[in-house]
Amino acid sequence: MARFLWAGVLLLPVLGLFEALPSTWLPGHYANTTADATRFAKDYNTTAEQVLFYSVSASWNYNTNLTDHNSELQVNASLEEQAFTEAWGLKAKEVFPKEFLDTLPDPKVKKLIEKISVLGAANLPPKEREEISRGSWLSREITTSCCLPGRAGETLLAKSCARITRDMFNWPTKLPH
Ligand SMILES: *[C@@H]1O[C@H](CO)[C@@H](O)[C@H](O)[C@H]1NC(C)=O
Ligand SMILES: *[C@@H]1O[C@H](CO)[C@@H](O)[C@H](O)[C@H]1NC(C)=O
Ligand SMILES: *[C@@H]1O[C@H](CO)[C@@H](O)[C@H](O)[C@H]1NC(C)=O
Ligand SMILES: *[C@@H]1O[C@H](CO)[C@@H](O)[C@H](O)[C@H]1NC(C)=O
Repeated sequence: MARFLWAGVLLLPVLGLFEALPSTWLPGHYANTTADATRFAKDYNTTAEQVLFYSVSASWNYNTNLTDHNSELQVNASLEEQAFTEAWGLKAKEVFPKEFLDTLPDPKVKKLIEKISVLGAANLPPKEREEISRGSWLSREITTSCCLPGRAGETLLAKSCARITRDMFNWPTKLPH
């Protein structure tokens, strides 16, 4: 866990621009060929790993140190995760339509690209997206760490419970159906 935290702390200050994904997280250029479909799937996997790690690190960081600043970092990371999903989803739909995917010999690549297209379909306006990331973050944190007994750091958790409960009434609660 120490290594995980350390890497998270290093990553966090580098990023955080709303919608401005680091260029290394954006999809490159791909042609509608079997080779490029495989490359797209591989690139997606590698990038998704980094984006998720960053987002989970921000969550962890806030969960262990409840400042407004860390809360904002966490919301920003979650928005970036959504921007990532959307950018790759749009690219998948644009370059690899269903008729093309049906010609791919590897069903694993086909299935992954289909999933990427579907996940990226949520083209919500930014404001609404922010509300959702706050909302889904809350439900995730509450069920995973806050009010479950027997976890480490009871005092800290009691503090976060009070804070989360307070924030829950102040934050927008529009959640995806
Ligand atoms: C979060 O993103 C907003 C919008 O880009 C930015 O102004 C703000 O500084 C970011 N917050 C942090 C803590 O990086
Ligand atoms: C991408 O990752 C998924 C889930 O871990 C895996 O099932 C799939 O085979 C991977 N695809 C490629 C092309 O690496
Ligand atoms: C908690 O986060 C703040 C930034 O919001 C930072 O200044 C402070 O050093 C952090 N505290 C710990 C114990 O990591
Ligand atoms: C690939 O794209 C080109 C031009 O965008 C199109 O003419 C061609 O039919 C596509 N090939 C397949 C297999 O979808």
